[in-house]
Amino acid sequence: MPTNSSKVTLPCILSLKIPHQWLSFTYSDSLQHQQKNMASALVSSIVASVFLALIATVSAQTAPAPAPSGPLNFTGILDKNGQYTYFLRFLADTQVGSQIQNQLNTTSDGFTVFSPTDNAFNNLRLGLINGLDSEKKVQLVLYHVLPKYYALKDLLFVSNPVRTEATKPNGTVFSLNFTGRDNQVNVSSAMTETPVGTALHQGKPLAIYQVDQVLLPDKSFGESSPTAAPSPAPKKASEPKKSSGNPGSSGTDMGLGLLLGLALACMGFLPIS
Ligand SMILES: *[C@@H]1O[C@H](CO)[C@@H](O)[C@H](O)[C@H]1NC(C)=O
Ligand SMILES: *[C@@H]1O[C@H](CO)[C@@H](O)[C@H](O)[C@H]1NC(C)=O
Ligand SMILES: *[C@@H]1O[C@H](CO)[C@@H](O)[C@H](O)[C@H]1NC(C)=O
Ligand SMILES: *[C@@H]1O[C@H](CO)[C@@H](O)[C@H](O)[C@H]1NC(C)=O
Ligand SMILES: *[C@@H]1O[C@H](CO)[C@@H](O)[C@H](O)[C@H]1NC(C)=O
Repeated sequence: MPTNSSKVTLPCILSLKIPHQWLSFTYSDSLQHQQKNMASALVSSIVASVFLALIATVSAQTAPAPAPSGPLNFTGILDKNGQYTYFLRFLADTQVGSQIQNQLNTTSDGFTVFSPTDNAFNNLRLGLINGLDSEKKVQLVLYHVLPKYYALKDLLFVSNPVRTEATKPNGTVFSLNFTGRDNQVNVSSAMTETPVGTALHQGKPLAIYQVDQVLLPDKSFGESSPTAAPSPAPKKASEPKKSSGNPGSSGTDMGLGLLLGLALACMGFLPIS
């Protein structure tokens, strides 16, 4: 299923500006849920406000509970918010989303994810995303993932550069730099610098922060040809799933790297030489 959908849906990503319109049917259900959730969230926040106005003295006890009960759901957190549909699509198409989800139970270091808004993707140069081959799409998604949990205050003082999950074909790690001042942290790559935004989730093992720019690892992501031919890979095997059935037998970082290596190998992207 992911192999087909990536072929069909990714080329559409930048051609339509209205998020709801390009969503395929797989997402429409959850979108409706989402709208209902937003509606009921609105209603309950109104109710809450009235309640607060009436009983101002107990306001501290009526704190909202946005955290989902039950196990941590990585993509669910993004999905609920409603403005990360492009990033969610990338997480699904590259299977990075499910790999992170699978490792949340076993990771000891945790993960930090920077989630670009739909606006961030809309602001990219037209054709940039379409010009990326599958390997670069995986790299781009993984560039938004740190193999360690960082609370925002940790990022203020982290020592640079910070390694991400993204690696070059020869194994070199793509990293990010963080600069903090007055409780504001910027994240920068060679190509981009943007403030680390709202925390969508902050609690070990997972931190998710909004960013208003897509983090581009290096020039090769900015210079890809918009007219790149569709990659001739219809025989992408559906193997990646299989290997993700046994997560966490080794270290968490290695686990993810290994799975992705396997996935890439199955897709025929790892250079033999
Ligand atoms: C996590 O959230 C996604 C998107 O909202 C949903 O499709 C999925 O069923 C959820 N998974 C679990 C285990 O609740
Ligand atoms: C992770 O743990 C939760 C309970 O904390 C459990 O419901 C879920 O099935 C586990 N997931 C995996 C992949 O082991
Ligand atoms: C890995 O490849 C990059 C280019 O993709 C190059 O800049 C770097 O020097 C290489 N590193 C090693 C250790 O070969
Ligand atoms: C973060 O970047 C913005 C520009 O995007 C800049 O105005 C601000 O000074 C930077 N802040 C830090 C802490 O570097
Ligand atoms: C991070 O900062 C170092 C030192 O200033 C610089 O050499 C390196 O290119 C920066 N890396 C990124 C990804 O911005």
